[in-house]
This record gives sequence, C-alpha cells and structure tokens, in this order.
Amino acid sequence: MKRLLFLAIFSSGLLLISGCNSKKTVQTSKDAEKLYNDYCIGCHNQNKSPFTNRQWLFGNSKDEIINSIKLGRISFGMPSFEKGLTDNEIEQLAEYILALAQQKQTEKTSSSKRTGIHESEVQNFRVDTIVSGLDVPWGLEFLPDSSLLISERSGTLLLYTSDEELILVANSPEVFEKGQGGLLDLELHPQYEQNGWIYIAYSSPNKSDNTIANTAIMRARLQGHQLVDKQVIFKAAPETDRRHHFGCKLEFDKEGYLYFSVGDRGNRDRNPQSLDNDCGKIHRIYDDGRIPEDNPFVDVKDARASIFSYGHRNPQGVCMHPETGYIWTDEHGPKGGDEINIIKPGKNYGWPLISFGINYNGTTFTNDTAKAGMEQPLHYWTPSIAPCGMTFVKGDRYPNWKNNILTGSLRFEYLQRVVVSDEKVIHEEKLLEGIGRVRNVEMSPDGYIYVAIEKPGKILKLIPL
Ligand code: HEC
Repeated sequence: MKRLLFLAIFSSGLLLISGCNSKKTVQTSKDAEKLYNDYCIGCHNQNKSPFTNRQWLFGNSKDEIINSIKLGRISFGMPSFEKGLTDNEIEQLAEYILALAQQKQTEKTSSSKRTGIHESEVQNFRVDTIVSGLDVPWGLEFLPDSSLLISERSGTLLLYTSDEELILVANSPEVFEKGQGGLLDLELHPQYEQNGWIYIAYSSPNKSDNTIANTAIMRARLQGHQLVDKQVIFKAAPETDRRHHFGCKLEFDKEGYLYFSVGDRGNRDRNPQSLDNDCGKIHRIYDDGRIPEDNPFVDVKDARASIFSYGHRNPQGVCMHPETGYIWTDEHGPKGGDEINIIKPGKNYGWPLISFGINYNGTTFTNDTAKAGMEQPLHYWTPSIAPCGMTFVKGDRYPNWKNNILTGSLRFEYLQRVVVSDEKVIHEEKLLEGIGRVRNVEMSPDGYIYVAIEKPGKILKLIPL
C-alpha cells in the first residue's frame, strides 16, 4: 500500500508529520512537556507567571484552562493557540498544567508538622516545621500582619500568609542565579507600616552582558501579591563572572541607616583592601540609597562613598546589637578563619593581610594574625563553621538565651548559640545538630526564633517549653 505523507505547517511554526494510517498525535505527558517547553515556558517559567501556587485568573477547571489556551487572554498578554495547536494538544497541555499545579502544591506544603522535644543546656524547646518543600530559602522577613516573606536563592519570592497559604509574589527582581548568586536577603523599612518599603538584596546581572554580575539592593512595595514601585538603590561595582562571595545581609540600625555586606567577589588580592570598589566591604546608606554625609570615606579621593568598613571576606550575618545599637557581623573566612566582628566606621578588618585561617587547599597566604591599623575579630572559628544568618535573641520568650547570638552553620549543619559578655564570647553551644545546612535565623516580631534550612528547604519555628 502506498504510504501517504501529510505535512502540516501551522501558523505558529509547529511542524506535524504524519503517515495516513499511523497519524501521530500527542498522547503522552512527555509530549505535553515538550510542547510546554517549546511554546509556554518562555512566559510561564518559575519567575514569570508560573502555575505553581497560582491565584487563578480564569479558573482552573480543565475546560477553563483549555479556553485560556485556545482563545487566549489577549488583553492580559496570553496569546491564542487556536491556530497553532490541535485540540488534542491543547487538551494535553491543560492536563499537564493541572498536574504541574497539583504536584507543586504537594511539594511546597505549609502545614505545621510537630516534632519531639529538644533538650539544650538552659532551654528546652520544640521544633515546628512551618514551611517545607523549598529549595534554598535565604531571606526571611515578617510583615506586620504576621505573614512571612521568604526569598529563595533561585529567584522566587514567597509569602506565607497567616492563613498558612504559600503564595508566589510576582515581579521579583531578575537575578544572576549562578553559584552563590540569586535572590538573597530581605528587610523591612523600620517605618514599614507608614511607607511600605521592602528591601531586597540580590545578585544582579549586567544589563547588556548577563554573564557578569554583582550585588544589588532594590526597594519595592507589595501590592496584593506583586512587587510594585521597584527602585534599585545600590549596585556594587565592579561586576565579574565569579559566582561567589556576594554577601549580602541587610540591617537597619536605630537611627535608620541601612547597613549591608558585599563579599570580596572572589578577588581577594584586589578588592577588600582597596577603597575604589565595593567588594569585601560593609556599606552604610540612607533608606533611599543616598550617602550619609558622615560616612568615613566621603572625602577620600576615588573611594566609594558608601563604604563603612573594609577588609572583609564574605560577611553573611549582619545584625544590630539590641542594647548597644552597634552592627555586628559574622563572616566566612578561609579554612579556619570565620569571624565575628563589631563594625566601627572606617576600620580595616584585615582580609586578606591578616587571618586566622589558611587557603582551602591547605597552603598559607599570610603568616600574620595581627597588624597595626587592623581590627582583631571579636571571635573566630577554627575549623570554620561557615556561619550564615545572625541574630540576637530578643524579647522574653527564651529568657536564658537573652542577647545570645544565634548563627547557622552551613558546613556542620547546626544552629550555633554564642554567649557574649562585655563584647567577649564566653560560651558556645550547638543546637539542632544534624538539622541540615542552616541558611538563616531570624526573630519574629512576636519573639519566636525561625530558622531556614537548605535542600530540602524548610522553615522551622523554635517553641520554648
Ligand atoms: C507571550 C507570553 C505567553 C505565552 C507564550 C503563553 N502565555 Fe499563558 N499567559 C500569559 C499571560 C501574561 C497570562 C495572564 C495571566 C498571568 O499573567 O499569569 C497567561 C495566562 C494563561 C493561563 C490562564 C491562567 C489563569 O490564571 O487563569 C493559562 C492556562 C495559560 N496562560 C496557559 C498557557 C499555555 C499552555 C501556553 C503554551 C501553549 C501559554 N500559556 C503561553 C502569557 C503567555
């Protein structure tokens, strides 16, 4: 029998080749996935209009989804696929989207799962899992209505509402999602209830060459479930294709200055000791990005005026002491030189000229642990714990931990409690050993400790007993 070949070219460019007695149709979800990747993912990816945690505009029954695809939602920017895809393909896509939404919903659950009692030296507590199914959660910030904003390094911004729903916030900044880069810390303006400003740290790709990037800070407001009024108030220079040491933790002090860290961006010998670039520094700016007149290097030729202190490697904990008002940081050192520092204006913290650590490959780069004109760390960890996130325990819920520092250990997978007296570390305790890489720790306004764990990403709440 003579075989006939039909060749159909649709306006959208879809090519369908079929023999007369074996007409190929899209049957499997693998085909649907391919169609989705070919036609839909450009607009419906993880960052833009995804089907994860969607607030459906036009309904999520199969028929309604078919209508959306077939007829389009033209005024919203959703094209019609009536001419480009067959009815069968549209149906397959509708089923695929439904499966996608279903699958993600069960992945990112927001139910509180309770675990047993943790007995620690001076405080027993229980751990509740508040959110699970995340990838690498980074920033945590509570809104006045006690909902929780969560940034994931991959670029998603999520809102965990007081009704225990996890909602995707649209219009988050475009990020350089490579290595340690991505969406980083979150911070509310101290007068958030009046002005609505949310501060977002992220690694921001260059506008014309997205292979290079550096840390940026944006402020924006939340309107419904999307960011509006976006303003980039800081962008670190120079950009580079290195994928590590972006910093970047944000903290307002009592006077309303915004402090944040930028790591050395992998250029140890060039950046941290030179004031002509933003890397390996703690910065201080006004809430709108302007430079405070009394910043230490405003009058120094060629110095970047936002610099507050320098000689840092990669600080990933920045927080204000609740009583003294000073900014404290913890910082990833090399092998065996992680530090806690109290940040004073214009000071040099020594990286890489002095350090208690050595190179990761075991070689040394300096024999000096002290030098005139350079600050000593308040504390250092050998071996390195890889500290990330930092908060002082505030309020009265954990009375025996009051004013202790909590920081996560990425490397050893526990929460480190650090007891400080008169600006000296006098005792340490490991909490939650083996919990997973601890990325962040924050206090909620109602005085609970929340901890963010990586891969699988989850948010835990420590309930004192
Ligand atoms: C040019 C960009 C673009 C392309 C391509 C595109 N969409 Fe859309 N789509 C949109 C926009 C914009 C909306 C409006 C809702 C929004 O912003 O989330 C939308 C809405 C939808 C909705 C309705 C969602 C709801 O909330 O009710 C469905 C279903 C949908 N698209 C499916 C698809 C499928 C399947 C494909 C691929 C065949 C596709 N879209 C391709 C931009 C696009």
